[in-house]
Amino acid sequence: MPTTVITNIGSLVTNDPSLGAGPLGLVADAAVVMEDGRIAWVGPAGRAPAADETFDAGGRAVLPGFVDSHSHLVFGGDRTQEFNARMSGTPYTAGGIRTTVAATRAASDEELDANVARYVAEARRQGTTTIETKSGYGLTPEDEARSLRIAGRHTSETTYLGAHIVPPEYTDDPAGYVDLVTGPMLDACAPHARWVDVFCEKGAFDGDQARAILTAGARRGLVPRVHANQLGPGPGVQLAVELGAASADHCTHLTDADVDALASGTGTVATLLPGAEFSTRATYPDARRLIDAGAVVALSTDCNPGSSFTSSMPFCIAVAVRDMRMTPDEAVAAATLGGARALRRDDVGHLTPGARADLMLLDAPSHVHLAYRPGVPLVSRVWQGGIQVA
Ligand code: NIG
Ligand code: FE
Repeated sequence: MPTTVITNIGSLVTNDPSLGAGPLGLVADAAVVMEDGRIAWVGPAGRAPAADETFDAGGRAVLPGFVDSHSHLVFGGDRTQEFNARMSGTPYTAGGIRTTVAATRAASDEELDANVARYVAEARRQGTTTIETKSGYGLTPEDEARSLRIAGRHTSETTYLGAHIVPPEYTDDPAGYVDLVTGPMLDACAPHARWVDVFCEKGAFDGDQARAILTAGARRGLVPRVHANQLGPGPGVQLAVELGAASADHCTHLTDADVDALASGTGTVATLLPGAEFSTRATYPDARRLIDAGAVVALSTDCNPGSSFTSSMPFCIAVAVRDMRMTPDEAVAAATLGGARALRRDDVGHLTPGARADLMLLDAPSHVHLAYRPGVPLVSRVWQGGIQVA
């Protein structure tokens, strides 16, 4: 396969401190060589080896593709009315999920597939080269399994979220629903999923139910991740750390003990989803407290039709910097390497030789512009596995 060199890069984020300055491993006046879908060489442009094809970055910035480790893209319909009402003062509750469950059950496979394709492409144009996505709007064995089958056509990072809410037909029998989620629904879904997730929250699933569901999933080889402490304090974060979950997601309402648990080095990443607080007019998670305590933080979109209908990682970076007091460097690291850690992937999120050639060119001289120029479409080219895809 031919080699390609991207040269004349004004500022390159490698996320590998051994390759450049600071935690982002920044290299000025840099070049990157790609071969067979991988990074083959990284360093100063003047020392780049010859390649078959050359792309001139024109002094602009290049960084690893974003790793969006949390989205919900398999859904039918939308929730414009709910959003509109919320912006007039109606509070967000998880109850709106039922609207999307009804629309998803009613949608054809083709409609759902087209929807996922649309949002994956939309995310890719904004620099996302790895995306996780969940079931959770089907809530029957058949509808959850088909959601995961469809998701699996677009990404290998698929998550079984049969425990999103208790569906209306089980309102009077939540224990029966947990039996379904840990029994026949898990049987139908496990072959199509890498991860298992639970919405552990008042009004959804409590700590005991979440533990039962996550351990049942783990017995089938699915690695846990948890929707934790989004709408209020609760057991989700502690449970995630105790079970060795890959991530605790949201982390909006944390006690000191929760922060200590996330900072204890057990490998559970704190995934922050500022799109959700933005779109529900809620208080943002305290990113500074987590980072200063030593937790590993990821930033993701939570793209879904209810709480956070954005596929834009640049938007999340801008909000995290402006309103969560993350530095631009921290936010860019959390949106790339942080997401990779949350998905336990060592082949993405950085540009070390050997990594996947997933990267983007910004129409800007530095990654800092992602926060400095909010709302401006700065991502001008995207390579995925060495192939230009946007
Ligand atoms: O992550 N919190 C639970 N699930 C989604 C919201 C889903 C919805 O409102 O449809 C979330 O924010
Ligand atoms: Fe979510």
